[in-house]
Amino acid sequence: MAKYVAEPFRIKMVEPIRKTTREEREQIIKDANYNMFNIHAEDVYIDLLTDSGTGAMSQEQWGAMMIGDEAYAHSRSYFRFIDSAKDVFGDWAWFQLVHQGRAAEKVLMPLLLDKEQGKDVAISNTFFDTTRGHVMLTGATPIDCVVEEAKDSKLRVPFKGNMDTKRLRELIAEYGDRIGVVVMTITNNSAGGQPVSVANIKETSAICKEHNIPFCIDAARYAENAFFIKRDEAGYQDKTIKEIVREVFSYADYFTMSAKKDAILNMGGLVGVKDPEAPALNGVKANAIVGEGFLTYGGLNGRDIDAFAVGLQEGTDYHYLEYRIGQVEYLAERLDEAGIVYQAPVGGHGLFVDAAAMFPNIPWYEFPGQVLAVELYKEAGIRSCEIGSLLMDHDAEGNPVQSAFEFTRLAIPRRVYTQAHFDVMADALIEIKKRADKYTRGFEIAWEPPVLRHFQVHLKPIE
Ligand code: F0G
Repeated sequence: MAKYVAEPFRIKMVEPIRKTTREEREQIIKDANYNMFNIHAEDVYIDLLTDSGTGAMSQEQWGAMMIGDEAYAHSRSYFRFIDSAKDVFGDWAWFQLVHQGRAAEKVLMPLLLDKEQGKDVAISNTFFDTTRGHVMLTGATPIDCVVEEAKDSKLRVPFKGNMDTKRLRELIAEYGDRIGVVVMTITNNSAGGQPVSVANIKETSAICKEHNIPFCIDAARYAENAFFIKRDEAGYQDKTIKEIVREVFSYADYFTMSAKKDAILNMGGLVGVKDPEAPALNGVKANAIVGEGFLTYGGLNGRDIDAFAVGLQEGTDYHYLEYRIGQVEYLAERLDEAGIVYQAPVGGHGLFVDAAAMFPNIPWYEFPGQVLAVELYKEAGIRSCEIGSLLMDHDAEGNPVQSAFEFTRLAIPRRVYTQAHFDVMADALIEIKKRADKYTRGFEIAWEPPVLRHFQVHLKPIE
């Protein structure tokens, strides 16, 4: 029997969600052109589109918002935030508030990458889409360098998010001074929310130092990553989550962070600069001022900065993390009982179902991950998203690109859904699995925009 770690909180405020019939949902998804982003939130029963900005804030966070200081410069909220950030991340020279993760990337990446200066390559364990986008906007080429284990969804080994350091050395030998930055994404979202070990972060940092390459952490899920280190990496069992976070951040020169994940905010982001003499520090400040707002608010309300200060602390609470990761593991165990394949062991922020394994008769270019997302919606009103060949888009010549995986991602919002909701998810997947052999055709594209097609695409079922 799958086990569920009970919530370390109780519910004080509720948000009603609407139940619909299968018949209604079939019409809704058709009207949405089979695109999950087009469905109105009102028509969704369990929303697993993303874990980003969808968490439930605590009474402490809402309370902190009431004392937010809306002064333009050097507000009280700012100083409360800086104290909290130093407590969690250590003594960094500069923390730059910005409005979300991709804003942090927009501020930092053009300072480290510059085609005209010959810095036109960036390497990561795996770039998240927006980070990849900001690398490409500078004219540089992003290269993913994740360990081979990540590519086998059935292989149960810890730290499948790690950088392939042997390959990293080969890439450095090949590209040398052209490499402007190495980015470590923790946890590795695109590889299934897989964690990265301290040993791997330390080794990657040392390689970067040896070759004088700036080392940057993409820190969206820094606390979930620390939880896995405490649980699974030798020598870390007696350390606190904060001690582990501080050690991890001690190896980096910069970080960019979406605060919409582990800091449990609805909106917010951060750039960190370790060294007061860092060449990019003045550029970070200048880019933030022109693009986001004055240094001490960076596009955020004073009240949001206070909620951020509190969220940073709550995100590192061990019992909260144990419950959160436990939820995903509960879902995974129920799927194991039914023989459903997913990226295993499960990562932090969600479960990535292997839709190619679920629907062996649907070819990749008919998007099995999207078929499963649509079926989940029809079955139980669950909204998930495809992470596969639909998301991969096409190459510069317009040819379709096959993704390494055909995943359907069930991303779990923080502190929002209960065990009964997780049973609805498991039951729906198990029902679909029972009839999975009968699915032989997927979708064709009826219309698509020139870039980032998955957000706007119109799909048509192939009869
Ligand atoms: N980095 C990682 C690893 C992310 O997962 C995200 C967002 C970002 C950067 C960008 O942050 O959304 O605040 O601008 N991931 C969301 C997701 C959107 O659904 O995985 P943002």
